[in-house]
Amino acid sequence: MKKKYYITTPLYYVNSDPHIGHAYTTMAADILARHLRMKNREAFLQTGTDEHGSNIEKTAIEKNIPPKQWCDEISSHFRVLWETLGIKYDYFIRTTDSLHEQAVQAVFEKLIKSGDIYKGEYEGLYCKSCEAFYTENELQDGKCPIHHKPVDALKEESYFFRLSKYQDQLLKYYEEHPDFLAPSYRAKELVNFVKSGLTDLSVSRTKVNWGIPVKSDPRHTIYVWFDALLNYITGRGYNPEHISADFNEYWPADVHLVGKEIFRFHGVIWPAMLMALGLDLPKQVYAHGWWTVNGDKMSKSTGNFIKAEDVVAEYGLDAIRYFTFREVTFGQDGDFSMEAFKRRYNSDLANDLGNLFSRIINMANKNLNERLPEDPSSKIYAELAALTGKIDNSIETLQFSDALETIWTAISGLNKIVADRKPWEMAKKDPEALPGFLNELIWCLRLIASWIEPFMPSTAEAMKIHLGAKKAIADGEKVKPLFPRKA
Ligand code: MSP
Repeated sequence: MKKKYYITTPLYYVNSDPHIGHAYTTMAADILARHLRMKNREAFLQTGTDEHGSNIEKTAIEKNIPPKQWCDEISSHFRVLWETLGIKYDYFIRTTDSLHEQAVQAVFEKLIKSGDIYKGEYEGLYCKSCEAFYTENELQDGKCPIHHKPVDALKEESYFFRLSKYQDQLLKYYEEHPDFLAPSYRAKELVNFVKSGLTDLSVSRTKVNWGIPVKSDPRHTIYVWFDALLNYITGRGYNPEHISADFNEYWPADVHLVGKEIFRFHGVIWPAMLMALGLDLPKQVYAHGWWTVNGDKMSKSTGNFIKAEDVVAEYGLDAIRYFTFREVTFGQDGDFSMEAFKRRYNSDLANDLGNLFSRIINMANKNLNERLPEDPSSKIYAELAALTGKIDNSIETLQFSDALETIWTAISGLNKIVADRKPWEMAKKDPEALPGFLNELIWCLRLIASWIEPFMPSTAEAMKIHLGAKKAIADGEKVKPLFPRKA
């Protein structure tokens, strides 16, 4: 059995259509998966939608549509967007899938039996938008720290997950696995939260209809987070009553990619649930930052968002995949502005990469034979190829902006070499040396195309067509620009 490299994204809520914030986590997962596949590693990417809970039920009621029908519709919008963004996922899970629902119910019963889930009464402050309870201390000015909306005081019969029991085990795990919570600057806060003392978690509701019923007590539905977190294993064939034969080919996951606001669910609650089930923990939970617009979190509910489709329609798919991972370090917050987008598009893509490519291809088309060169042995190429390890390492440690920076330093270096050696003058002054020089440059472009492929698959493809064994355009024709300049 060969373990696959298992990458997950969070499951997206279906209360509204996706925006760039959602696309971000999924594009990151896709870039990593594509990179690994290029290295002949078997990567498996699971994504999907989180469809239960009072928020979604409320939205569906407002729209006068049965909840499941609403979920079908919005869930399909996510899938269409992933298509538009060139995301090659391997499995799309919905929390309304019956296999998932059955597995969640079976997990709940198993933990009732083991004593990790017990019945009690809950009194607390609940934020409907987060679908989460807060303590008094966690509120900001008496309001939800994320949505800045009032919270509701709730009291109800509830099942509890014995989270407190796992406090020491979690702390020990964090200590022994320093890479588990990443980036490290986000881990500290989470570890301190656990150290400050964990209380048991309410994991069922009697007031929420749109949820998975507790099998042995169907007046209760299962708390959405308890339901949704389990997707990472149910989607790979885990059900405590019958674990699929290939489950261990996927589990433990190599990385759960999440946004910083859901780090705690993934770094505290989820590992405790896995401990209770006697399963291994994922190798890493990596929390990225937020895209903001004018400083505020991009979010559909505040109307402060940019649709990825609109950007793709204007600038093409690869430009958005480039910009979001070049502009901001993966882990930090960043402001999304169309001015910055256009600036990078024109300077990095149209100018640096686009011009380098067109210049070399047009020169090669004019001056090389029908068959393009086959020998990569040259100093310029060797110097460039030496960067491959560094780029690979940046991608594998999710430092996407570092990888792109290294690639663009190489592109600038090549542009400088071309500007210094002026192949267009060489054609007249030193025609013997020209084919050799162009040969070197073609090989360098091949390398660049392979480096950018996980980020910009269509551009890499377009480049490769012209860098193949044969010339792809007729004599006298000019190659189409990769990135037409925007006024
Ligand atoms: N349904 C839960 C996750 C359950 S996982 C078992 C959820 N859904 S969400 O739709 O609200 O968010 C999903 C992901 O989108 C999160 O990783 C979140 O950080 C990301 N983003 C949503 N808005 C974002 C930005 N403005 N910026 C960056 N990413 C953000 O949470």
